[in-house]
Amino acid sequence: MSNGGNAKILAQHFTPPAVAQLVWDAVRTLAGTDLGAGARVVDPAAGEGALLAAVGRAYQTTGIEIDAGLAERGRSQADRFYTGDGLLGTFPEVADETFDCVLANPPFGKLGPMLPLFGTDGRCRLARRFGLLHGQKQVRAFPVESLFVERALQLTRPAGWLALILPEGLLANARRQQMRGWLLGRAEVRAVVALPEAFDKVQTALVILRRRKPRARTKARLIAPVGKRPSMEQYAQGVRLLLSASARRVPEAALFSVGQCALRAQRWDPRFWQGRAAVRRLAGRLRLIPLGEYICHLTYGPIVTGSRPQHVEAGVPVIRQGNIAETGLDERTLLCVAPAGVYDPPRSRVRPGDLLLSRSGAGALGRNRLAVYLGNGPANVGCFVDLIRLEGLNPFYAWFFFKTQLGREQIAAYANGVGTPNISFGEIRALQIAALPAAEQDALERRYREQVWPLHCRRERADIRTAAERRFRAIVGDLEIYLQTRRQ
Ligand SMILES: C[S@@+](CC[C@H](N)C(=O)[O-])C[C@H]1O[C@@H](n2cnc3c(N)ncnc32)[C@H](O)[C@@H]1O
Repeated sequence: MSNGGNAKILAQHFTPPAVAQLVWDAVRTLAGTDLGAGARVVDPAAGEGALLAAVGRAYQTTGIEIDAGLAERGRSQADRFYTGDGLLGTFPEVADETFDCVLANPPFGKLGPMLPLFGTDGRCRLARRFGLLHGQKQVRAFPVESLFVERALQLTRPAGWLALILPEGLLANARRQQMRGWLLGRAEVRAVVALPEAFDKVQTALVILRRRKPRARTKARLIAPVGKRPSMEQYAQGVRLLLSASARRVPEAALFSVGQCALRAQRWDPRFWQGRAAVRRLAGRLRLIPLGEYICHLTYGPIVTGSRPQHVEAGVPVIRQGNIAETGLDERTLLCVAPAGVYDPPRSRVRPGDLLLSRSGAGALGRNRLAVYLGNGPANVGCFVDLIRLEGLNPFYAWFFFKTQLGREQIAAYANGVGTPNISFGEIRALQIAALPAAEQDALERRYREQVWPLHCRRERADIRTAAERRFRAIVGDLEIYLQTRRQ
């Protein structure tokens, strides 16, 4: 077939060269002599051959690509390059259990839109080839990347290697736990390397597997970026050092060694383990308490399908994600809705002192947008804002705590998914917060009210806004130092 408008259905997102090189270097480093020159390497969804191009000529490379135009362009990148279906097709010298290594950045998404590409009997043939589809009632909704994972396992020789770029959702979402368990029954997880921003719109990770029964003593190396977004080249260099064990620490990335058993009923995304490690580090020194123990009311704004809220003069203001600025609520542009209407249910009316959290989206939750409501009049929250009412915990302290590294890492650990980051009520309740004497919590609130709030109220002037942000960051920074040095 030629591309003919199928680019979207086929999920044609190509691997940038720096990432492709990292994929190959990572699997080769972990495999050592088991993946020496002459080894057979295949990519069953090869696109223009980006991953195979990184492998080099010392290996025997094979690519399969369903899009004839891409296959044509990829041909020069591999010893053999076939145009056809990598899931069901048969090709010369492509037999099950014969490849030393499978590389893939497969298409992600639902199988449904792709089904016509497999022909009229495609569904039956898929069901015959893929054990994962047995007993599946909702075949159209089944994630196609999981079929490519199964195909990759079929192609790999026993004890051979797989290096797969997969959506973070597969590694992090509770509803994909069964798939993770299935995979762990067939392969050992050797590494999971977060690939932040390697692809537009979707968070991915490189998963390196070895096709053999997991050994309890084999550790998986989970790697996540740290610090202020290193470039892909810097990050890749750090990852290489960590995987080759030539460094235990690098500035761009953090390594977490996790046993196969620990992965059994858990998430595999490195950010989750990063959050856990941060909590554990602090737990040795401070008493941590789940935020849920202080929550007396947790809700979000109304979700009204099929309509958008219209502005009503003198209506009830609604706080939406965009109204949560770094230093507090920006009440200048609040939309107002009809009092007691569908957009103003009593359950999500805010009270002074309520903590508000942007619960979704890279630009809001991804940036830890939080604020404490300080208004007096009635107000409500929009559907992407969580209202958290606390008892026995100063909401200002909670706000600042979740802006510290420990707070940010915990929220980032939960903000997962293929598309928009999200945090559930259960996850909010599970966030850990350090127990601090009430007087110290109150002192933080006083400092905010005296030093930040007066400037925040005049934030239309850019220089004043900058000063407010600087003072706000100073409060968070001091809290950070305090938490790092304090012992209980
Ligand atoms: C996410 S892209 C990655 C391409 C390439 N591996 C890379 O890393 O740049 C997935 C590729 O799989 C191809 N594809 C989708 N379904 C396929 C199938 N059933 N068989 C073979 N290739 C397929 C798409 O056309 C697309 O080129």
